[in-house]
Amino acid sequence: MRTLDDLGDLGGKRVLVRVDFNVPLKDGTITDDARIRAALPTLQELQRRGARLVLAAHLGRPKDREPEFSLAPVAARLSELLGTEVTLAGDLGAVPDGPAVMLENVRYEAGETKDDPELARRYAALADAYVNDAFGAAHRAHASTHAVAKLLPSAAGLLLQREVETLQGILADPRRPLVAIVGGAKVTDKIGVLEAFLDVADTVLIGGAMCFPFFKVQGHDVGASLCEEEGLEPARRVLGSAGDKLRLPVDLVAGQSFSADTPVTAIGGIDVPDGLMGLDVGPRTAEAYGAAIRDAGTVFWNGPMGAFELAPFAAGTRAVAEAVAAASGTTVVGGGDSAAALRQFGLEDRVSHLSTGGGASLELIEGKTLPGVEVLS
Ligand code: 3PG
Ligand code: MG
Repeated sequence: MRTLDDLGDLGGKRVLVRVDFNVPLKDGTITDDARIRAALPTLQELQRRGARLVLAAHLGRPKDREPEFSLAPVAARLSELLGTEVTLAGDLGAVPDGPAVMLENVRYEAGETKDDPELARRYAALADAYVNDAFGAAHRAHASTHAVAKLLPSAAGLLLQREVETLQGILADPRRPLVAIVGGAKVTDKIGVLEAFLDVADTVLIGGAMCFPFFKVQGHDVGASLCEEEGLEPARRVLGSAGDKLRLPVDLVAGQSFSADTPVTAIGGIDVPDGLMGLDVGPRTAEAYGAAIRDAGTVFWNGPMGAFELAPFAAGTRAVAEAVAAASGTTVVGGGDSAAALRQFGLEDRVSHLSTGGGASLELIEGKTLPGVEVLS
């Protein structure tokens, strides 16, 4: 992968930087600016080398030029963080010159998600070099993440580089034991990651509603729990081949409905009575998983242990988050829900690497080629 050093002298040059500023917004206010802060080292390094920045980013999945998908709040926040005024350019045909400009949401352009070479040419015309620092969007072959990289001298930014090296590193040469914690609602979302870790990890801990297809295949009662039908076959396959690496919850916490005020029932085992749904792992599971995490040389965590957004069902996810934060091994946390959980518990600074990518980090772990990365090699 080409890196910033391969770009040579950038003094006075315009560098098109693709960033992942797909941040959560509530009523036009950014509720989590972690992805913006994560790009600062690259942007500051380019500025230090005298480059003028032309930033490209997407926000959400607009169908049209809906104003709620404008990058205006993002440009404002970046101006504060960077200490440089970032001008938002609404029209690709009239991008002003300046130390830092940000193009409007690239997904306002019809050709963006089609990896359109013509749109890529319009992007390329705005700059002398291209840097991709948008790790979270590197699994997309889009005009601003892929096609444009072929038209300019191009390289990975510091964030993209660190993400790829860290995530590939834990698979290639982990300090052992390597413990993977895989949670979330659906087996089908995580099956690729699960199978990758069953190959290389020493222990794989399962949590979240994705445990129910496993339990159902084993003949347990799942009650009214979320139990993905399409997950049964993959769960059967994994159970057939995983041996004793794979560990499932041994106790559960259940409710009558997915809500914070449902009556809470502790289930000593894993059979869920009719009318109840398992919404968290129980205390014995949390204790056992915590012990495995404590003793690990390397920990990878993706996916919550339960419905952590509901206070009565947050304990399992909190216990895992605290164990990961306290672990002395290398700790890597995938983006998405596990990142949100770490932030909810105020532990985001206590891990070795918190990925800015959700889908991208999973695809990398699965061993897939990310188009936005491959094009930089
Ligand atoms: C994300 O938030 O997952 C990335 O920014 C990619 O966004 P997308 O899933 O809309 O392509
Ligand atoms: Mg996504």
